[in-house]
Formats: sequence, C-alpha cells, structure tokens
Amino acid sequence: MKLYVIIPLCALFTLTQQASPPDKCVCELTNSKKAFPHDKLSTVESDAAKCNSNITPQKTLELESLLLGLERRLPQLEEDVSMLEREDDGELYAVISLQVIENELLEIKQLMDRLNSTALGYERLTADTTKQLEDLGAEMQELNSYDTMEVVKRQQDNQRLKRDLDNCRTGFPPIPQPTKPPHGNCPHGQFVNVTGPRVFTQGEYPGSYKYGAWGRDPKPEAGKENWHWLVILTSSNIYSNYVRRYSSLSALIVGVSVPGNVLIHSSNPTTNTIQGPNVVLYGEALYYNCYNKGAVCRFNLTTKTIRELKLPEGTRFNSKGNFCNLDACYPYTDLDLATDESGVWVIYTTSQDFGNLVLSKVSDGEALALNQTWNTSVYKQAVTNTFMACGVLYATRYVSKDVEEIFYSFDTTTELERFDVGIFINKMSPNIHSLNYSPVDQMLHAYCDSYMVSYKVLFQ
Ligand SMILES: *[C@@H]1O[C@H](CO)[C@@H](O)[C@H](O)[C@H]1NC(C)=O
Ligand SMILES: *[C@@H]1O[C@H](CO)[C@@H](O)[C@H](O)[C@H]1NC(C)=O
Ligand SMILES: *[C@@H]1O[C@H](CO)[C@@H](O)[C@H](O)[C@H]1NC(C)=O
Ligand SMILES: *[C@@H]1O[C@H](CO)[C@@H](O)[C@H](O)[C@H]1NC(C)=O
Ligand SMILES: *[C@@H]1O[C@H](CO)[C@@H](O)[C@H](O)[C@H]1NC(C)=O
Repeated sequence: MKLYVIIPLCALFTLTQQASPPDKCVCELTNSKKAFPHDKLSTVESDAAKCNSNITPQKTLELESLLLGLERRLPQLEEDVSMLEREDDGELYAVISLQVIENELLEIKQLMDRLNSTALGYERLTADTTKQLEDLGAEMQELNSYDTMEVVKRQQDNQRLKRDLDNCRTGFPPIPQPTKPPHGNCPHGQFVNVTGPRVFTQGEYPGSYKYGAWGRDPKPEAGKENWHWLVILTSSNIYSNYVRRYSSLSALIVGVSVPGNVLIHSSNPTTNTIQGPNVVLYGEALYYNCYNKGAVCRFNLTTKTIRELKLPEGTRFNSKGNFCNLDACYPYTDLDLATDESGVWVIYTTSQDFGNLVLSKVSDGEALALNQTWNTSVYKQAVTNTFMACGVLYATRYVSKDVEEIFYSFDTTTELERFDVGIFINKMSPNIHSLNYSPVDQMLHAYCDSYMVSYKVLFQ
C-alpha cells in the first residue's frame, strides 16, 4: 500500500549522482515542486467545522417554536373574538374581554417581531455561510493543484475500498446506530425541548391561592373538547373539595366559569377530598391523593362518585415523601398524578425504595387498579416535579428562580434511565407546584405561586 506513494515521490525529485571517490556515493535531492501546504489544509478543515457548527438545528428550532406560538395564538384570537360577539352580555365583561384580546394582539405582535428578527438573523447567517462555503471551495481548488500526486484522493479511494472490503467480509452494510436510544413509543417523535411560556395568567383569583393545578382533559366528553379545569387548594394551602371548570382557555383567563364548580363534598377537608396540588382530570374524572391516605382517589364528575385505590404498603403520604427544591420541600406533594397518551399514572415513593421515585400505571376501566410498577433510581427529594409524555417519566429540578431543568427521564418501554436530559424551562415564578403534560395539544401545564403557565413541548 505504501508502494505507490514511494514511487511517485521519487519522481518528484531530481536525482543527481556525483562521481566521487569510488567508495563513496553522494545523492543530492532537489524538490522540483512546492511542498504540500499542510497548514493550509488544516485551516480549511477547521473553517469547515466552524461553518457546520454555526448552522445548528437550534436556529431552525427557534424559528419553528416561534411559528408554533403564532399557530396557537391565531385560532385562540379568532375564538376569543367570536366568543366576545356571542357572549357580550354586559359592559364589564365586554371590557375585560377586549383587554384580553388586546393582550393577545400585543403578544402576537411581539411574536411577529421576534419571528422577523430571528428570520433576519437566519438570513444573515445563511448569507455568511454561503460566502464562507464559496471561499472554502476556492481554497480546496487551490489545494487540489498541489495534490499532483493525488495522495489525498488515493487515500480516500483506499479508505472506500477498505470499507467495501469490510462490508463484504461481514456480509452486509453496517446499519447506522442512532446516537440516542429511541424514547418510548411516541407518535410525535422524541421529546427535544420546550418553548417559552405560551399562556401566562393569574385567572380568576389573582394572588389568592398559591397552590393548585390546571389543565385540559385529554379524553374529554363530546362537546367539552376546549374545556379547561382548575383545582385550587383553598384550605390551609393543602386541601380542596371541588373542581372549577371553564368552557375555553380564554374563559379561564378572563375568569368566567360558566359550568362553575363540581363539588366533591361540602366539607373541606374530609374523607376522600383532595390533598395536595398534583391532581389531573382524565375522562371526566379527577384523580388525586385522597385526604389523609396513601391512596389515589378517582372522582367521577358525571356520577359524583368516588373510587379509592390504595397504593402499596409503605407508600409515603401526609407530606412525608415530598418533592423539594434546594431550600425547602413542597408540602403534601407525596402523590403526583400524571396523564399522557396512554392514560393516567401515579408517581410516589415508599419506605422500602429509600425515597426513590416509584412509577405506576393506573389501569383504566371501571375498577380502579394499578397495572404495572417501576422502581427508579432518582431520589425524590432531588426532584421538584414530574410528568409523563409518551410513556416516559420526566423529572425536573430547581436551577434558579428563573430556570427549572428537566434533567431526568425513565422510559417505561426500555426501562432506560437518563440523568442528562438537559431541557430548560423558563419560569414566570420561582416555584412550580404542579406540572402535567396534555397529550391533546402537547402542552405542559404548570401552576406556580398562583400563576397558570403553559409551554409547548417540541418533539423531533
Ligand atoms: C422586519 O424587520 C425589518 C428590519 O428591522 C423591517 O424593515 C421590516 O419592516 C420588518 N418587517 C415586519 C413585517 O415587521
Ligand atoms: C430550547 O428552547 C429554548 C427556548 O425556546 C432555547 O432558548 C434553547 O436554545 C433550546 N435548546 C435546545 C437544546 O434546542
Ligand atoms: C363515570 O360514570 C359514568 C356513568 O356510570 C361511566 O360511564 C364512566 O365510565 C365513569 N367514568 C370513569 C372514569 O370511571
Ligand atoms: C395493563 O396494561 C396492558 C397494556 O396496556 C393491558 O393490555 C392490560 O389489559 C392492563 N391490565 C389491566 C389489569 O388493566
Ligand atoms: C421495587 O423495589 C421494591 C423494594 O426494593 C421491591 O420489593 C420490588 O419488587 C421492586 N419492584 C420492581 C418492579 O422491581
């Protein structure tokens, strides 16, 4: 293999033999061509690498997420305007609605502005890169002229040959391995990021209730597809005895609860009322930690009946197995209910699991039961909250008052755990008291210090 290099190399040199004393032979080598500019090649290589890293998928992702924002805003605006027309039942309401619409218009304008500047930046980057690529092309052309021996080309040919040979030997071409294992059985692809806040509102009770949860039923009854729900912990910041319902997102923002409250019990708290903020609504039933029990309650909103599911022996409850940030734990967050594409899940911890998170699938059907359970190796007190998406459990941790990190995942399909997820959530308030994923629109709903915030999940 070295031979072809050596022969043409010699041809480059003028070999002069001098007739000297017979016992001595002196060779004088003169290079007839310029030396190959290796340093130039390495500069071109590093320029090319830089060029690559400038055009990252993040740039496109940014554009995409802005477009997603608009995509969501526009129908919302349309809906709000038509609602305003339909339900203009008094001056006060009309004024409030107008304000909401004005706010939405303002947000849309801000989104457009950001989209414009991002697009401009992207254009500029593309132009720069095109210029860089042209320069690189010219340099390569020039370098090519040096490569009279076609060393580089032959090296490439050889590599190709070797690869073909290897493939031949093993019988089939290698299948490219994905860099990351596929995550769960997700119809949308892999969870890659979340956008900035899409909804940010204090709703009906600004500043009044620090703890609560809100969202959308992933399996709504016909006609209630746009309905939103709210549960606020009205007693001691721990307990609640009703679900409040809104006919749309804008109704929730404006604070007009037309269907009103659905009462679990007239007392608060009492047997089988709500304890703790991490509740979910699924299929017209509310799932939550029952008062004073290591159990999940399911309140059927249609029949107003409750079923109870006792969690395994040793399950921590009554604020003994909480989520925590750096300084303090979030009271009564022992049980975290979650929804995803496949239904309802419960995340908790038990004494026998050393305070690590335990995950169970709640089976649907008339009887309330646990289907399957997984032990994880993430310590619950190192986690601020969890949610499920496409059969994958995600856990967050507190980074700063402005940032929360989705740092951990557990895939129930592969049982693979990751501690390096590295997706950041921009917070509007320091403490996330409940966090849940809505599979109908791929939004994350958070309740933070009396603010309701939502984020769009980006899948690849
Ligand atoms: C986008 O930004 C450019 C430069 O700032 C401005 O001239 C143009 O009017 C903007 N376009 C829109 C649609 O806002
Ligand atoms: C994720 O999204 C945020 C906000 O849209 C953005 O700032 C960040 O760069 C994105 N991160 C990745 C890894 O794409
Ligand atoms: C609630 O009750 C209704 C009427 O019995 C039933 O059809 C529905 O399946 C129940 N919902 C749940 C989640 O059990
Ligand atoms: C548990 O889940 C599996 C898979 O979704 C399902 O086939 C099975 O019927 C469930 N079992 C119960 C008891 O719900
Ligand atoms: C989880 O851990 C507990 C306690 O160590 C053990 O009893 C149980 O069998 C484990 N469950 C699974 C599904 O591995």
